[in-house]
Amino acid sequence: MSIDRTEIAPRRLHPLSVRVMHWTNAAAMFIMITSGWGIYDDYVIIPGLHFAQAVRLGSWAVPSLLWHFAGMWLLAVNGLAYLLYGVFTGRLRERMLPIRWRDVLQTVRDTLHLRIEHDDLTVYNAVQKLLYIVVIVAGISQVVTGLLIWKPVQFSTGVALLGGFQAVRLEHFLGMTVIVGFVVVHVALSILVPRTLWAMLSGGPRLPGPAVRPSEGQT
Ligand code: HEM
Repeated sequence: MSIDRTEIAPRRLHPLSVRVMHWTNAAAMFIMITSGWGIYDDYVIIPGLHFAQAVRLGSWAVPSLLWHFAGMWLLAVNGLAYLLYGVFTGRLRERMLPIRWRDVLQTVRDTLHLRIEHDDLTVYNAVQKLLYIVVIVAGISQVVTGLLIWKPVQFSTGVALLGGFQAVRLEHFLGMTVIVGFVVVHVALSILVPRTLWAMLSGGPRLPGPAVRPSEGQT
């Protein structure tokens, strides 16, 4: 007897697990970025660039470093759970692939003409997909470069491969810049299209059928 999964448990656009991981990630990123600014100020990378105390987590470098390590576990464990969930349920592939350059250019054109409708919440536009993939790669790269900065002797090969200790610090800083740039655009868009924000809080519309598994074809 065949079982219609959609009748038993219709999927939500953002299942509870994804919502919990998304908001945990947002909190972890907030801790990582603001505590990172606290550590940075002790040993600046770009001369003249400082972060005001008001935007730093931790009154000086040592408490900021403690926050950074605590946030790092939250970010890494939660991020790993999100990636494993996304790969094994097929959700990442279903939501974020394929990306066609033609669609990216068209979406950029539409956005420049202030046409940023998001009628069908169940489909991410090409720029959204691209930005999500960029930020996921940036998050992974931050964990890797952070580990190299933390244990440069134990991971000396990795440090050398990425150009030396100061180069890895710069790469870690650039990764943060990419993530902050993403968050500014991402939060602005979710305010401009508040239905998406409500969906990320409540689960959003129900989807027909199960997710496409990684082993299945997608047309
Ligand atoms: C307060 C801050 C944030 C708000 C208000 C917010 C809001 C949202 C909303 C509304 C969506 C759904 C978009 C849609 O359905 O069109 C979403 C998805 C997403 N957000 Fe955020 N977000 C925040 C922070 C972050 C941060 C810090 C990151 C990563 C650095 C992030 C990464 C993502 C990703 C990757 C998705 C796609 C999730 C998926 O479908 O698997 N968000 N966010």
